[in-house]
Amino acid sequence: MTQRIVSGIQPTGRLHLGNYLGAIRNWVRMQDAVATGGRCFFFLADLHSISVHEDAATRRANVREMAAALIAAGVDPARSTLFSQAQVPAHPELAWLLNGTARIGWLNRMTQFKEKSGKNREGASAALYVYPVLQAADVLLYQATHVPVGEDQKQHLELARDIATKFNTDFEVDLFTLPEPIIPPAAARIMSLRDGSAKMSKSDPSDMSRINLSDDVDMVVQKIRKAKTDPAPLPDDPAELADRPEARNLVGIYAAMADEPVPAVLARFAGQGFGAFKPVLADLLVETLGPVKTRLDQLRDDPGELDRLLAAGAAQAREAAAPTLAGAYRAMGLRD
Ligand code: TYM
Repeated sequence: MTQRIVSGIQPTGRLHLGNYLGAIRNWVRMQDAVATGGRCFFFLADLHSISVHEDAATRRANVREMAAALIAAGVDPARSTLFSQAQVPAHPELAWLLNGTARIGWLNRMTQFKEKSGKNREGASAALYVYPVLQAADVLLYQATHVPVGEDQKQHLELARDIATKFNTDFEVDLFTLPEPIIPPAAARIMSLRDGSAKMSKSDPSDMSRINLSDDVDMVVQKIRKAKTDPAPLPDDPAELADRPEARNLVGIYAAMADEPVPAVLARFAGQGFGAFKPVLADLLVETLGPVKTRLDQLRDDPGELDRLLAAGAAQAREAAAPTLAGAYRAMGLRD
């Protein structure tokens, strides 16, 4: 089957190492490897970002900043369709149609809603609750075959498959393709540098908890130097990292960055403490992320060009989305 690769990122805050290793690096690899006839769609989930209040100027700035960061990280708008959801009305339209198929019981099981709404469930926006239905529309619209994401999105993708299956069955059509999540084993879940039990996240109030792709060399070095660790030396057996979440996270980041298996990294550093390991890790990060930051600084200087690229991407996306949206209206007897 022709490959259709689709994925999105919320344009809130900056692109961080968790996004990069968990998802974006795979976007770029899949874009580079996609077979002839295949297509990649990557988007800024600005319609998802309304689930949390933000003023208009901040949202606009965040969309441009994230678009620049994705291009700097290797997404090529000449080969991949790069756009923002808000410029493609088929996304919220299909999401509304799928609301007829999605079950409340399914949404009630979504762990991300539970985590994000926390104790203030009644005060959370309705958008936060129906968020996974829009996410299903995002991928089903383009007949996605593969969706490169970090592990935290796996449940949302399973929901998208459930919605697609139920829609196809209920309306007796073969409209939607079932998407496969693509999750990198080594970097499925990069953790906070301050707390090995929390995910590295844009919404963590401490900037020291994450490496942003926009951080300069001194900042990266400082964040790794201050990253929480323990006094024990590195073991040679990965099993011995099981109860050392911070150590495991730093070794995992090294392994993912260097594209080496964890046992190979441990074989090299076993017996050494973090005083020796951290500077080597910081060097590796700086070496890889330095060129990304340089490109990002250049792209930021030309917001007009970013807007032009996003407008061109949205035009391509609108065209690609139209047949599936029309098929959904037809299947439901809403339009001929
Ligand atoms: P978002 O914006 O939170 O994150 C973007 C991508 O980065 C991955 N990720 C991580 N991976 C490993 N370790 C981490 N600490 C880490 N933090 C984030 C996420 O898994 C994701 O792949 N709902 C999505 C955006 C979205 C989407 C879609 C994704 C909207 N529609 C359709 C795929 C397909 C989100 O909020 O991702």
